[in-house]
Parts: sequence; structure tokens; C-alpha cells
Amino acid sequence: MFSRLRLWMTSPRALWGGGLSLVLVGIVLTAGFVGSFSVFTEYTNRLEFCVSCHEMANGPYAEYRKSIHYSNRTGIRAECKDCHVPQEFGPKLLAKVVAVKDVYHHLAGTIDTPEKFEANRLSMAQRVWARLEETESRECRKCHDFKAMNLGEQGRRAKAKHPKAMEDSKHCINCHKGIVHELPKGYDPNG
Ligand code: HEC
Ligand code: HEC
Ligand code: HEC
Ligand code: HEC
Repeated sequence: MFSRLRLWMTSPRALWGGGLSLVLVGIVLTAGFVGSFSVFTEYTNRLEFCVSCHEMANGPYAEYRKSIHYSNRTGIRAECKDCHVPQEFGPKLLAKVVAVKDVYHHLAGTIDTPEKFEANRLSMAQRVWARLEETESRECRKCHDFKAMNLGEQGRRAKAKHPKAMEDSKHCINCHKGIVHELPKGYDPNG
């Protein structure tokens, strides 16, 4: 009986059939995962979700509300996720897995008072800068592009710096730190 089964299992037709059903199961599972992952990321990418933890009176949200990325002449708004969560599937998945640590630190109360927030601000900012450094400011470049800039419309300092920055392969966060949030105390631009 067992040898019959083994024979059946190794017959080319069964192998083909078995392989095919495995592939089908794989496709269904992947579709299910991708589907629920996109529902999950859509939910956790909402500004309200970020702010449910980051609402403090003098924290990232309050500072953001005063920034040009919240309100500007053209009415294009950058939300938390635009700068902080990658758009591509792989990096986004990784970011969401890493973000589980935020839930832990939320429960542990790591930044739940203004004092604790300030004490942690430099190390948090450094993690954001490191990520932007690694991707050559990918999150900024979702919206901004050197090539799309009309230098003629820019101020004197910008006009002087940007062409050279392009030549030297510099990217946004090299020069534009603290554009949304206040720079951390103790941050040394030369150090
Ligand atoms: C469950 C509460 C919670 C939610 C929801 C949450 N955060 Fe956080 N976040 C935290 C805590 C707590 C820390 C401090 C973690 C630490 O010290 O490692 C943190 C740290 C950060 C940092 C600092 C950099 C880093 O890597 O630690 C950034 C940026 C950040 N959050 C952005 C966001 C954005 C954007 C969202 C929405 C997509 C969001 N957070 C949603 C609790 C939360
Ligand atoms: C969702 C799109 C979006 C993303 C992502 C984004 N920006 Fe912007 N940014 C804008 C818009 C819109 C303005 C305002 C343009 C205007 O009306 O002048 C702006 C303005 C600016 C300005 C001009 C500030 C001023 O005071 O005039 C700088 C500098 C800037 N962004 C840098 C960055 C950097 C650095 C990043 C990445 C950390 C980034 N932006 C990410 C859309 C975006
Ligand atoms: C080598 C440094 C440097 C780099 C790299 C750089 N910038 Fe700038 N940028 C500046 C300076 C300096 C100004 C002028 C700031 C001022 O006058 O306060 C400026 C101004 C701006 C302005 C306002 C322009 C105006 O005059 O209205 C925007 C928008 C901007 N930068 C976006 C970006 C973006 C997006 C990137 C990445 C693609 C980037 N910059 C990379 C140095 C740089
Ligand atoms: C235009 C891009 C941009 C937007 C929009 C933005 N951030 Fe940030 N965020 C940054 C950058 C860049 C840093 C690194 C520190 C710096 O340069 O100010 C940062 C730093 C942080 C930090 C670390 C602490 C600190 O003050 O440096 C937290 C937490 C944070 N952001 C949360 C948020 C939340 C929550 C929102 C939405 C309410 C948001 N950010 C919107 C670009 C952005």
C-alpha cells in the first residue's frame, strides 16, 4: 500500500499535479498576504494613527502644523508617512516590522513626557537622518527633484547651492535638517 502511494507520488503526472497545486496555494497565500498587508499599511499610514501617539503639545505634530509641509501656497501637503514610510513594498514591509518597537516603547513610556521626548529627540532624529542618508533622501525625492527645480524662481542662496549640490551628488537631508521639526538640542551641524 505504501509502495503504491510512493509510486503514485513519484509518477511524473502526480509530481506535475502536486507542483501545480503548490504553486496555486502559494499564489493564494501571497495574494492574501499582500491584500491584508496593504489594508494594514493604509490604516497605519494615516496621519491620525501616527498622531494618536505623537500628539504632544510641543512634539512632532505641533511643529509639523507650523511647517510649510503642512500648509503652503500650492496646497500640497506632505503627511508623516510621506517622509517617514517608504513607498516600495520591500522597504515598507521592513519599516512596518521595525515600527513594532514603537509600540513597545509606547507601552514602556519611553517618550511620554516632554522631558523624556526632548531627552530622546537627538537619538530619534539621528535614526531618521541615517535612514535618509542611506537612501539619498528617497522620501524627499518622492516629491522634490533637482531636475524639476526652476532655479530662476529660487532665492539667492538656493540658486547658488543647488547646482553645485547636484554636481557633487549631494542630497536634500545633507543641507535641510530641521525643516519640519525643531532641531534637537545638542545637535552640532559641524560634528
Ligand atoms: C503605538 C504608538 C505609536 C504610533 C502609532 C506611532 N509611533 Fe512613532 N514612535 C513611538 C515611540 C514610543 C517612539 C520612540 C521609540 C524609541 O525611542 O525607539 C517613536 C519614534 C518615532 C520616530 C523616531 C525615529 C525612530 O526610528 O525611532 C519617528 C520618525 C516616528 N516615530 C514616526 C512615526 C510615524 C510617521 C507614525 C505613523 C506612520 C508613527 N510614528 C506612529 C510611538 C508611536
Ligand atoms: C508629499 C510631498 C513632499 C515631500 C515628501 C517632501 N516635500 Fe518638501 N515641500 C513640499 C511642498 C509642497 C513644499 C512647499 C512648496 C511651496 O509652496 O513653496 C515643500 C517645501 C520644501 C522646502 C522649502 C522650505 C521653505 O521654507 O521654503 C524645503 C527645503 C523642502 N521642502 C525640503 C524637503 C525635504 C528635505 C524633504 C524630505 C525629508 C521633503 N521636503 C519632503 C512637498 C514635499
Ligand atoms: C549643498 C546644500 C544643499 C542641498 C544638498 C540641497 N539644498 Fe535646498 N537649499 C540650500 C540652501 C542654502 C537654500 C537656501 C536656504 C535659505 O535661503 O534659507 C536652499 C533652499 C531650498 C528650497 C527653497 C528654495 C527657494 O528659494 O524658494 C527648497 C524647496 C529646497 N532647497 C529643496 C531642496 C531639495 C528638495 C533638495 C534635495 C533634492 C535640496 N534642496 C538639496 C542648500 C541645499
Ligand atoms: C517633510 C518631511 C517630514 C514630515 C511631513 C514629517 N516629518 Fe518627522 N522628521 C522629518 C525629518 C527630516 C526628521 C529628522 C530630524 C529633523 O531633521 O528635524 C524627522 C524627525 C521626526 C521625529 C524624531 C524627533 C525629532 O523631533 O527629530 C519624530 C518622532 C517624527 N519626525 C514624527 C513625525 C510625525 C508624527 C509627523 C506627522 C505629524 C512627521 N514627523 C512629519 C521629516 C518629516
